[in-house]
Amino acid sequence: MKSKTYSYGKQNISGEDIESVVRVLQSDWLTQGPTVGEFEKALADKFGAQFAAACSNGTAGLHLIALGLGWSKGDVIITTPITFLASANCAIYVGADVDFADIDPIYYTIDPNNLEDKIKSYRKENINVKAVIAVDYAGQPSDWEALKSLKDKYGFQLVNDFCHAPGAEYKNDYCYAVNYADAVNMSFHPVKHFTTGEGGAVLSNDGNFIKRIKTLRTHGATKDPDILEKNDGPWYYEMHEVGFNYRITDFQCALGISQLKKLDSFIIERRKIAKYYDNFFKNDERFIIPHVNKNSSHAYHLYPLQTKFDELGISKKDFFEKMKEKNIFLQVHYIPVHLQPYYRKRFGFKEGDFPEAESFYKREISLPIYPGLKVEDLNYITESIVATIDSMK
Ligand SMILES: Cc1ncc(COP(=O)(O)O)c(C=O)c1O
Repeated sequence: MKSKTYSYGKQNISGEDIESVVRVLQSDWLTQGPTVGEFEKALADKFGAQFAAACSNGTAGLHLIALGLGWSKGDVIITTPITFLASANCAIYVGADVDFADIDPIYYTIDPNNLEDKIKSYRKENINVKAVIAVDYAGQPSDWEALKSLKDKYGFQLVNDFCHAPGAEYKNDYCYAVNYADAVNMSFHPVKHFTTGEGGAVLSNDGNFIKRIKTLRTHGATKDPDILEKNDGPWYYEMHEVGFNYRITDFQCALGISQLKKLDSFIIERRKIAKYYDNFFKNDERFIIPHVNKNSSHAYHLYPLQTKFDELGISKKDFFEKMKEKNIFLQVHYIPVHLQPYYRKRFGFKEGDFPEAESFYKREISLPIYPGLKVEDLNYITESIVATIDSMK
């Protein structure tokens, strides 16, 4: 057995990254200094946004988006069940109600037809859906053309939870996220494409929205002369709405700037790993490899491999345990959010509500994918998966 361990995702930190952080640690500003703005500019430039606000993590970014877009009690927000909890929880934070539309069974992103059916059923009850949060799951862009035309038809706000997809392209556009969505959310957690430790950002082409988000990020306090009711002096600030401390530090942003420079090379490595897995599993009927939409190039935050556990008569739980013995720590992305006890109790969701998401959950395993994995690692991982399944029949 290998002494090396494998998880589904892992950061890749270079000497250069470390030096950038050390430089900021030795400067005058650890937080609220110039490196935050530099990181925001680098993000905006890279992803073609006019404005960016960096914040403490991706969950905080989603909360800021919910506040900035004015969601409140009684609003209906729809997202996909196959996502991280935060994509749905952000609506709960502001008192709104959460609903879901099922996933497309081929691409695993929100299904625009299912979404439209859901919007229509709300309309019958005279309810207009306030916002849709689409998630570019695993690094594959959602069907943004279809989502945008639904937005134009029904007038909801459109959010891209883009945490998995920096580096992806949609219709040959690297900067598609802000071109379709009103607000875009990012996370820089260590398993993501590039990291700041904890960290997140909101991107948008709406300057007033980002200005408001920056105020909400720091307690709701503002010194903006256009907003102040009076001005007692240079120290003076006012609070017009309640905000939070969702700030990111300068040394985290230094890491982010340095890491962002390597995003494109990281994506090349991720795509090579995905290709290796594709070639290994594509002709084996026990598995379904992730299909890439012809409109897209995939950023492969995850490599979700569907494995037909039920048909093979194999317990997924036992399979995971056996893989752990081989030092391969697989993951599952995700347990459908509507099946979480909180969501069942609060909104009455039950098994069978979103059948595509539920059947995907039963089969999905996330294979290790991160820069630094070598062919010998991929050999070991793939051979171990097949040998373990063979041994369980
Ligand atoms: C789709 C999605 N949304 C939101 C988040 C939340 O980001 P963070 O962990 O930085 O709070 C994550 C992170 O796991 C995510 O994968």
